[in-house]
Order: sequence, then structure tokens, then C-alpha cells
Amino acid sequence: MDLIEHNFCSPIGIFDSGVGGLSVLKALKNILKSENYIYFGDTKRVPYGVKSKETILEYAKQDINFLVSKKCKIVVAACGTVSSYLNILPKNSSVDVIGVIAPTCKVAVNSTKNKKIGVMCTEAAAKSGAYKSEINKIDSSCQVFTIGCPKLVPIIETGNIYENNEKLIFAVKKYVDMLLSQNVDTIILGCTHYPLIKDIIKKVSGKDISIIDSGEETAKFVKEYIQKTNLNTKNSKLGKCDFFVSGCENQFSSNAKLFLKEDISDFVKKVHIEDEK
Ligand code: DGL
Repeated sequence: MDLIEHNFCSPIGIFDSGVGGLSVLKALKNILKSENYIYFGDTKRVPYGVKSKETILEYAKQDINFLVSKKCKIVVAACGTVSSYLNILPKNSSVDVIGVIAPTCKVAVNSTKNKKIGVMCTEAAAKSGAYKSEINKIDSSCQVFTIGCPKLVPIIETGNIYENNEKLIFAVKKYVDMLLSQNVDTIILGCTHYPLIKDIIKKVSGKDISIIDSGEETAKFVKEYIQKTNLNTKNSKLGKCDFFVSGCENQFSSNAKLFLKEDISDFVKKVHIEDEK
């Protein structure tokens, strides 16, 4: 009985290489207000998307172990790159790990009319072929065009995500145009950093293109999952969220404020993620 009680109140763990996973956290906090959360951003080692498969798997293992050590009841890999390799990551014996690929692809397949889907993601995620194979598992007649967008994460991590950032607009335009030239009618934001610039991507793509936000779709999936497994909290009061980062706490707090619209600086702590085995 004690153990079950403990599970209900335990936090949901979320991790990403940096601020990208906040797109999942924000959506989760909107629909699961009473849950507690622990967020880990590996800001010292961001970006993940240009690293080798072996390095990504090693980092993912450490990130998950850290959240397990904080007694999380489930872990959300709020990172398209890590999620792309989850199928080959040895299962963690203490916790279920949910990725962003399946929930996002399902919605994209339901949304496309012409069965041409574009995926914007990191180079590592593109190389894995995970989005394409998940989409084709659901509907083999869909054509999938995946594009690695290595310029976006470093810009988003600086916090300069405004429409007057010409470098950002130029990069977004280049990537979106490549997908539009393939006549896609749906674009998946396959890296969780991209919902932070969703308005810009939407504007560049035009109103006829459906933009699928990996953050929102994953949050809906997590909600269903914890209800189905009876892990949802039975508390009704507002939950809390603690943040851990491997890099600079202040920079993370100020970037997070742009997106979450709240000051989290009192809740951010630094962690030596390399010490996790
Ligand atoms: N937000 C991440 C993703 O969804 C990580 C991007 C990166 O670190 O390159 O892939």
C-alpha cells in the first residue's frame, strides 16, 4: 500500500538536451496540473542531434538513471533525437520511458490529406529513419520527407527566437522550402526545440500546411498512459516542478522564461550528469 501511495505522488521525469523538452513540460502542465515534475536539461552537452548513435545512447542512459534516482514514476524522453534510438536502448528495469515519435506520427498520419508528410528534426534523428518507419508502420502509402535541421537548436538555445533574428528566419525558410518543394501538406516538428519557434515555422509554411507539435501530442499521450496504468496522482492541488541542468543555471532560467512565461530561477539546480552510471 505504501508503495502504491508513493507511486501516485512521485514525479513525472522529463529530459532533453536543453530547453526543447520544455515544449512537452508546458503542454503537460496544461493538461495534468496536479502532477509533480522533474525536468532535466543536459545543457552542458547540447546539442545531441549532431552526435553519434553511441554517444546519444550513453547520454540517454545517464539522463534516465538520474531521473530514476529522483524516484520518477515514468520518464518522458522529451527529445526527438533520443526517442529515435529508444528502440535500441536497453530497457530500464525501474521505469517506463515514453518517447515522442509514436504520438506525433499518429496525429500526422491522421492529418495529412495528400499522404505527403515532412519531418523537420535533427540530423541524428533523420539518420535513424525512426519517423519514416513509424509513419509507414501506421500507413505504408504515406510518403515521408525527412530533413535534418542542424542550424536551429544552437540558435534556439541562445534564446534569440524572435522574428527579427535574420539568421533564424533564413534557416527556417531554407528547411521549410525544401519540404514544400516536395508538396507536403503536413510538417512534423520532430525535434522538441522547434515548438519554441512554432509561430515562425507556421508563418513561413503558410496557412495550408498542418504543423504537428511533438510537445503537445506527447503530452496527450502521457496523460492517457498514466491514466491507463493508474499512475496518475490522486492529489487535486497544484503540482510543482523542479529543474536540473548540467550547464549554466542562469542561462537556462532566462531561456525557459521566454517560453514558459514564468520565473523558475529558484527551482533550478546544477547536476554532474557524467557521474550517473
Ligand atoms: N530537443 C531535442 C530533439 O528533439 C534535442 C536536439 C539537440 O540537442 O540536437 O531532438
